[in-house]
Amino acid sequence: MGFSAKKFVTSSVDVSNFNPLCKAVGDPLRVEILKVLQDNSFGVLELCSIFEIGQPAMSHHLKVLWKSHLVSTKRDGANIFYRRNNFNPEENLQSFQSTLFKTINSFKLSESVERNIESIKTAREKVSIEFFNKNVSLFQENQDLIASWLNYGPSIENLLPKHNIEGRLAVDVGSGLGDFLPTLSSLFDKVIAIDNAKEVLEECIQNITSKKLNNVSTFLGNLKEFKFQTTKADLISLNMVLHHNINPQNVLKECSAVLAENGFMLITELCNHNQEWTKTSCGDLWYGFEPETIEKWAKECKLKKIESMFIAQRNGFKTQIHIFKK
Ligand SMILES: C[S@@+](CC[C@H](N)C(=O)[O-])C[C@H]1O[C@@H](n2cnc3c(N)ncnc32)[C@H](O)[C@@H]1O
Repeated sequence: MGFSAKKFVTSSVDVSNFNPLCKAVGDPLRVEILKVLQDNSFGVLELCSIFEIGQPAMSHHLKVLWKSHLVSTKRDGANIFYRRNNFNPEENLQSFQSTLFKTINSFKLSESVERNIESIKTAREKVSIEFFNKNVSLFQENQDLIASWLNYGPSIENLLPKHNIEGRLAVDVGSGLGDFLPTLSSLFDKVIAIDNAKEVLEECIQNITSKKLNNVSTFLGNLKEFKFQTTKADLISLNMVLHHNINPQNVLKECSAVLAENGFMLITELCNHNQEWTKTSCGDLWYGFEPETIEKWAKECKLKKIESMFIAQRNGFKTQIHIFKK
C-alpha cells in the first residue's frame, strides 16, 4: 500500500507565501546577505563590493529576498538601502521568520566579507568626519540652518532636573562645540565629551578651558573606541548625532552597553523630513527618523521610555527629544 502522490500535490494548505520564503533562503549567498544585514543596512553597490559580485546578480538576489519579505528597503536620496525585515506581513510566518533570523545570527561570516564590511564602514565614517572637519568654521551656521542648540538645548536642560538626572559619570557622544557640557558639568562628578571630528573637538576643548569645566575630559573618536574604565555611565547623551551615522541603531546599542543599570539615555533627533540639501550642507546621512523608529531601537536595547517631547522649528523642521532609562 503506497502513498498517493496526488495527496501531496493537491494540498489544502496555502503555501503561496511559505514557498517563496523557503526558496529565498535556499541559496547560500542569500543567507549570507541576510547575515550581513543583521545589524546593518547597505546599498546594492556596497553589497556588491562586500561579496565581490556584479550588480545584476546582487540585484536579482535582493529582489528575491524582498519579494519574500525577508528584507525591506529605505530610499535615501538617490540610494536604496536594504535592511532585514523583522516583521513578515503574514502573521503565520512571523515566528518561522524570527527563528530563521536567530539561526542566521549564529552563523559566522567569512574573513573577506568581514574585511569588506569594515572598509565600507570606515569609508562612510571618513566622509562624515571630513565634513565636520572641513566645516568647523561654519559649524554654528550649518546647525542654525536646521536646529541650533538654542532651539532644543533649554528643553533638554529643563528635563534633567525634572527626572533627577545627575550622578557620577555623563558621556556626551558627538559633543560638537560643547554647548551641553556646562550643564552636564554641574550635575555630574565627571563628564566625558566624545567627538570623532578632530577640528571640532579642538574647538570644544577651547570652550571647556575658557569655561573652566574642570571635571570634563575629552576623547577623539567614537564610543566604541573609547576604553571604558570600570564605571559605567549614569547618562549618555546623543544630541543630533544619530542622523550623521550610517548605522544609528548600532550607535545606540554601543551606548546602551556602557550605560549603568537605571542609567539614562538622552536622544535628540530631527523628525523625518525630505530636505535633501541637508546632506550637502550639514553632512546628514539620514533625513531624520520617525519617533517610533527610535523608540523601537531603544526597546531592542532594553531601554524604557521615560518621556518624549517634540519641538517645531521655525523653518519647518521638527525636533524630538527622548529620555530612556535602562
Ligand atoms: C550636529 S553635531 C551636534 C553637536 C551637539 N551634540 C549639539 O547638539 O549641538 C554632531 C556632532 O557629532 C559628531 N559625531 C557624529 N557621529 C559621531 C560618532 N559616531 N561618534 C562621535 N562623534 C560623532 C560630529 O563630529 C559632530 O561634531
